[in-house]
Amino acid sequence: MPDLVLGVSGSVACYRAADLARELMREGFSVRVCLTDSAARFVSPALFEALTGQPCLSDVFEEPERGRMAHIDWARSAAALVVAPATANTLSRLAHGLGDDMLTTIALAFEGPLVLAPAMNPAMYDHETTREALDRLTERGAWVVEPAEGEVACGEQGQGKLASIPEIVAAVLEATAHGSSLAGRHVLLTSGPTQEPIDDVRFLSNRSSGKMGAALARAALQMGARVTVVSGPVALGYPPQAEVVRVRTALEMLEAALSHVAQADLIVGVAAVADYRPAQRAPGKLRRQADTMALDLVANPDVIATLAGRAKPGALCVAFAAEPGEGLGPAYAKLKAKGVRAVAVNDVSQPGLGMEADENALTLVTESGEVASGRMSKSRLARWLLERLAGELG
Ligand SMILES: Cc1cc2nc3c(=O)[nH]c(=O)nc-3n(C[C@H](O)[C@H](O)[C@H](O)COP(=O)(O)O)c2cc1C
Repeated sequence: MPDLVLGVSGSVACYRAADLARELMREGFSVRVCLTDSAARFVSPALFEALTGQPCLSDVFEEPERGRMAHIDWARSAAALVVAPATANTLSRLAHGLGDDMLTTIALAFEGPLVLAPAMNPAMYDHETTREALDRLTERGAWVVEPAEGEVACGEQGQGKLASIPEIVAAVLEATAHGSSLAGRHVLLTSGPTQEPIDDVRFLSNRSSGKMGAALARAALQMGARVTVVSGPVALGYPPQAEVVRVRTALEMLEAALSHVAQADLIVGVAAVADYRPAQRAPGKLRRQADTMALDLVANPDVIATLAGRAKPGALCVAFAAEPGEGLGPAYAKLKAKGVRAVAVNDVSQPGLGMEADENALTLVTESGEVASGRMSKSRLARWLLERLAGELG
């Protein structure tokens, strides 16, 4: 029976952690509960000890078995660390690597999937520091089960209610199920925009943030893959376990990706590569002259099509396509034109989705048809996509 550590921090929603513990046990997990001091003021350890049949800890110096450091013991044996409810305070402590109680110390010693279900007042959830903590934790690969909208305990309306128990259980099942479906595989990603120089200080580019590429890199690592990212200029960081090659132009991106393509089992072109580049890069800085100005552009090579042509036999090559809501005809045409096995289409015409956004919705188009993901965070979407691609790889 796989072990889980359920961390409970000091929110009114603590009472729901008892139901969550039971549901996780019904799914076959052996659950050990760790309360923060604040949580222990809302609910008693005795409740969780009675439900789980295991000791419930708060203090790092509490050792149910003498001489065994419980924080290391629990961290080593857990298939996942679930924090539900996760307070603003605990999220910030986790993001900054504090180890000032049992829960945060276990988190520091734990190397597996971290599932976080925040619950708090909407203003606390919107607070810059809470957002930063969640971004930081997501960047490190945590699974965040977004809180629901509605009336929270203090009577205010907004986003902050603990997600439903089935949603949290589903996230735990997902987090613990796909640990190795890309084990032994090499995943090559292109990510971010390209910058095509006009002169020494100006360039042509686009709004790609690299968030989808970073989410795919994290998900692929969590699924056991070796990951190489060839990235255009982006502000965000990629996971430290990924090999990252930084480039600027489409030509540099192609050259860098070509030097890795022969080893790759899965190649995903997420980068928004400029179709054209200025024919000439003017030296220095172009001066303002007439009222109008023409810029000569020449076509860039098609990066993902070239990679598909050079991939090893059996490798799976996937192109991302940003389509402004014109149906899937262009995606089916791209399958053939680019020689890829799948096209992942994001509809960039919908507000809040796609480029720069934290959410996206994909339709995966292959020769045998299409499947739509629905709207979800880029982290979840990355896993959704890679699970399907891992299935195709066999
Ligand atoms: C009645 C009450 C309800 C609270 N509910 C929440 C909550 O839902 N979410 C939250 O982030 N903090 C909440 N707090 C504040 C936290 O309990 C407080 O920040 C505490 O220091 C959190 O400690 P912990 O993160 O170690 O559990 C609440 C406090 C009280 C007194």
